[in-house]
Amino acid sequence: MLSPRSVTTEIPGPNARSEMGRGTFDMQHRYRSVVMDDQASDGVWLHDVDGNVFLDLFANFALGALGYNHPALLATARSPAFVAAAANPSSTPFVTSPSWFTFLESVRRYAPPGMARIFCVDGGGEGVESALKAAFIRHGERRRVAAGRPANPLELTPEEQCAILDNTGTDAVVVSFAGAFHGRGLGPMSATHSKLIHKADLPAFHWPTAIFPANRFPLEEHAEENAKAEAEALAGLERILERYAGRVAAVLVEPIQSEGGDRHASPAFFRGVQALAGQAGAAFVLDEVQTGMGITGTLWAHEQLGLPTPPDLVCFGKKMQMGGFFATSEYDIAQFGRMYQTRNGDRARALLGLATLQTIEKEGLLQNVRDTGAYFLARLGELAARFPALLTEPRGRGFLLAFDLPSPAARDDFNARALRRGVFSSYTGMRSVRLRPHLITTRVHVDEAIGVFAEVAAEMS
Ligand SMILES: Cc1ncc(COP(=O)(O)O)c(C=O)c1O
Repeated sequence: MLSPRSVTTEIPGPNARSEMGRGTFDMQHRYRSVVMDDQASDGVWLHDVDGNVFLDLFANFALGALGYNHPALLATARSPAFVAAAANPSSTPFVTSPSWFTFLESVRRYAPPGMARIFCVDGGGEGVESALKAAFIRHGERRRVAAGRPANPLELTPEEQCAILDNTGTDAVVVSFAGAFHGRGLGPMSATHSKLIHKADLPAFHWPTAIFPANRFPLEEHAEENAKAEAEALAGLERILERYAGRVAAVLVEPIQSEGGDRHASPAFFRGVQALAGQAGAAFVLDEVQTGMGITGTLWAHEQLGLPTPPDLVCFGKKMQMGGFFATSEYDIAQFGRMYQTRNGDRARALLGLATLQTIEKEGLLQNVRDTGAYFLARLGELAARFPALLTEPRGRGFLLAFDLPSPAARDDFNARALRRGVFSSYTGMRSVRLRPHLITTRVHVDEAIGVFAEVAAEMS
């Protein structure tokens, strides 16, 4: 079949520029690169309002899973349950409808093994923030009980309650990793260390930061130096946990550092982190906002880590169409008012998230991601071998793929040239090209992308 890829105008084209001119009231208006035609966009093909058609390897920063206008999502959006949920917003913990219970019954089977509860909010960062709160609450209760005080804060003395209201009631911390990204709210941002611009001028908690191993790729070729880097990182984490003994509520980590430049570590490293967190009495919290929902070839990336026991809390977002976290029964926060938001459970978006999960299963997309992802990585490896001065360190698991250019400017130039040829790739870290194809992407699309990348690399060499 002939590829629909075609770029016939500059980007943005005249129609896109005229549309953008209407949108300056939006504080975010300066960032836009494409104004999509969301009727015409189809599968992996992103159409813009000037009639340009892009092979979309960006998927809106990994938000997209099933491609554009997937029949399953259209059917869900047109279903009476969706229309009723969208037209009747509810504060779901207090006032709900049977559609929420249907969602809960159905979504349970897609939760990571060992998870007893789900907590839903709007976005990924909010999900991380909520998971950290659950960890802090459990940590605080345990500490009080160990000190002979009541777990329930409402049973504390007036002085103790005043200390809580005055923000001096706890010195608990979260340990996160250098290079991590966990969101932009003031809580998760304190655990975020990927880019200066995310944090400049914003006050943050003084929480400790552990080293994340700077592994080289391909992992097999650098096994020895990577193992050394991981051992050093674990030793660093251990020292932090000793220094903050008794105060660490959570150790928070991404299974693959995504915004930080697609930095991978071995399953053994994560098992080490889990073991150290457990010894320190801290919750082991996995942020799967970007790695979750199938992009690594399993529904949850941590399924590939061989963890001896489930993590304590697993955060989700993006492809789930809402944010939140899954928790073991240990982190089930029951006391009224501690973990409540007006919009805990947007029933309409939950239906889209569930339809996405069901479609991933029905269409065998995890297998596709594993097969096509391995093929994509192999082809990126060939390209790097052809252009060794330009493209380095191809890496990935499933469809979470990246490679490096020599500098941030070269990376941006590479993406701009690819976009002008109708392939939409993205950026991560300082100088990496980030690829997050929709889970329906096939080898035919991969070959087309590689062809374009080869042309761009030849032009830049
Ligand atoms: C690992 C990770 N955590 C949290 C977030 C924040 O999600 P959101 O932008 O939906 O708040 C992101 C977003 O890219 C992410 O990649």
